[in-house]
Amino acid sequence: MSQSVSRSTWTNRWAFILVTIGSAVGLGNIWRFSYLAGSSGGSAFVLVYLLCVGLIGLPLLMAEILIGRRGRGNPVQAMLNTAEETGNSPWWALLGWAGMLGALLILSYYSVVSGWIADYLYQAVVGIRVETAEAARQGFAALAGDPLRMGFWHTVMLTLSVGVVARGVVAGIEAANRIMMPVLFLILLLLTLWGGVVGDMPAALHFMFDFKADALTPSVVLAAMGHAFFSLSLGMGAIMVYGSYLDRHTRIGHTSLWVVGASTLVGLLSGMAIFSLTFGYGLAPSAGPGLILQTLPLAFAHMPGGRLVAVFFFLFVLFAAWTSAISLVEPFVSWLTERYGIRRARAAWGTWAPVWLLGLAVCLSFNRWSDFTLAGLNLFDALDQFASKIMMPLSGLMIAVYVGWRMGTALVREEIALRGAAFPLWFNVLRYVVPIGIVLVFCHNLGWLPWLA
Ligand code: PHE
Repeated sequence: MSQSVSRSTWTNRWAFILVTIGSAVGLGNIWRFSYLAGSSGGSAFVLVYLLCVGLIGLPLLMAEILIGRRGRGNPVQAMLNTAEETGNSPWWALLGWAGMLGALLILSYYSVVSGWIADYLYQAVVGIRVETAEAARQGFAALAGDPLRMGFWHTVMLTLSVGVVARGVVAGIEAANRIMMPVLFLILLLLTLWGGVVGDMPAALHFMFDFKADALTPSVVLAAMGHAFFSLSLGMGAIMVYGSYLDRHTRIGHTSLWVVGASTLVGLLSGMAIFSLTFGYGLAPSAGPGLILQTLPLAFAHMPGGRLVAVFFFLFVLFAAWTSAISLVEPFVSWLTERYGIRRARAAWGTWAPVWLLGLAVCLSFNRWSDFTLAGLNLFDALDQFASKIMMPLSGLMIAVYVGWRMGTALVREEIALRGAAFPLWFNVLRYVVPIGIVLVFCHNLGWLPWLA
């Protein structure tokens, strides 16, 4: 079944690190991290999140890169190739399928939320100010109530993301990340410094890092673990397909450390920037999902240079979202091109259409179709919950089982090339800690561990 196609490779290992950070750093690290930390007791969430990133995220990231690179193919083909090589059942390819389709589901609403950011960037550029909390709330409600406006920005963001993928792995994905990621880091540094100048950085640091044992409830622990998944793009074929373009000589452990370190740093710095502004302007950190859209604009309206800061801030979030959305498009496109020999551009625009339609339904789920629910959730929430609470942990679990227990120690050792005690350490964490951790999160998410709530 193995199929050999000539495949692109990243220009060098730094390019791989950059694109993978690009995938990891997204709405998750900024929008989701800040509102979850804000509403789950700050430091307790942050500290557990850091622990989970190290104990579950890093080992799993390495395993996913390993499969992609060894299998040299799109997620389905990489699973087929490695399963054949290691004498495992071809049914493991289902893991590739689940990732690829899960990525498209996430993309459909991710593109809509990216569209909100684009809309707010536009408002910042043309200088729309919100002076009061009520105006900020109404501003967001107006957007959520207008399917045409949301659909317009969703179309823009999806087209931008697919357009990059259509251009190719190196000429598109790598080139886009080479431009956007450095700008993103630069803006983030400036924002954090500015947060320190005009905001209340000490309050932000206390909020994020003071250890408060009583806030450490089981549900905070499990929420933080789940977020570690989302923020590292795990289990959705994105990391696997990026790994499949990685050359044989790059050391997976090293590169993964860079990726995990940098994307966590972005999360922490943006948290520091966001919370120092939040506290500096007397706002509540626990505003929920609306934190960066409904709370920060108030701070922008009242700070010196606020309009410029707002433009930079939303540009920063937009770049983060865009580089992540690209990695959600690539798994399916690579499958179409390799499986059917379709030209990349055609495959990319073919992928655009169904995701665009589903995204339009998501736009409508906030207003006209808000009565239509699945398991009590509107379409947006249903997609998000299904992908992040069911598909991601399940795929992550299967990856840990596959690499930890099915591929064979000798092959895994050769591919991962870790020295000394690092190999058994990583391998045992992958075999035991990761699956147990995931099963706990999963059962909790499904409400099977009510005594932990
Ligand atoms: N990691 C991205 C974020 O933090 C989301 C993502 C998930 C991207 C899965 C690709 C695959 O926003």
